[in-house]
Amino acid sequence: KGLLKTSLVGSEINYYSVLESTNNTAREIAQKAPEGTVIIAEKQNKGRGRLGTEWQSASGGIWMSLILKPSIPLENVSRVTLVAGIAVTNALRNMDIDAHIKWPNDVLIRGKKICGILTEVSAEVQKVDHVILGIGINANVKLSDLSEDIRRNSTSISNEMGKVIDRNRFVASLLYELEQQYIIFKTKKFIDIVDEWINLSDTIGRNVRVTTPNRIIEGKAVGITEKGALVILDGNHERHEIIAGNCRYIN
Ligand code: BTN
Repeated sequence: KGLLKTSLVGSEINYYSVLESTNNTAREIAQKAPEGTVIIAEKQNKGRGRLGTEWQSASGGIWMSLILKPSIPLENVSRVTLVAGIAVTNALRNMDIDAHIKWPNDVLIRGKKICGILTEVSAEVQKVDHVILGIGINANVKLSDLSEDIRRNSTSISNEMGKVIDRNRFVASLLYELEQQYIIFKTKKFIDIVDEWINLSDTIGRNVRVTTPNRIIEGKAVGITEKGALVILDGNHERHEIIAGNCRYIN
């Protein structure tokens, strides 16, 4: 706590040694909890990833959820995820780690995943009540603790830096970046945030294959819309906007 330089984000921090999923615990308390509350766990036994996947949450990682209560329409929630990606990337770059964002919300180092973000929202009549930003960072995770298929595409901060990092310091710097980005989110035009996101991302300009529950689209990623959707131009010069899906880089 002494390391914290924020006033909103992390105003309350609930630390647990083991949880099923910090997002589940956050959801249970979100109504009553003040905005900025953080749930953090040393381990999760049922960590969840996007699109119904499992999130391997070995010890040494940073598994946390942040409760936010922005007054925004439901359709703009994807924007909050982009903002979180910017914050994580900044926090990593502050340690001289060359991190990039892969749409929509993975943070990669040398093409390998170091962080995933799972945004969950509760809304009433199209207006957001609260947003839970679940952030998982392979901080000091030993790659040998990950299953083989996950390990192939993953890395951790300690693996990249060749030493174990001070997670308290890193979390303090991450909460600071989250607060800065949240302030920007509330005060600036979204287009400025998109520009910042594109600066930190390596997705725009790449050839991608995006899988959604009902289709697969291949083409060149050319931009981000007002809603945070990825814009893809396919081989027939047709334009597609994809709000959620699994993105892979091809060639
Ligand atoms: C993804 O890339 O699929 C998203 C992974 C999100 C993982 C974090 S860890 C903290 C929070 N609690 C969860 O169960 N998931 C998120």
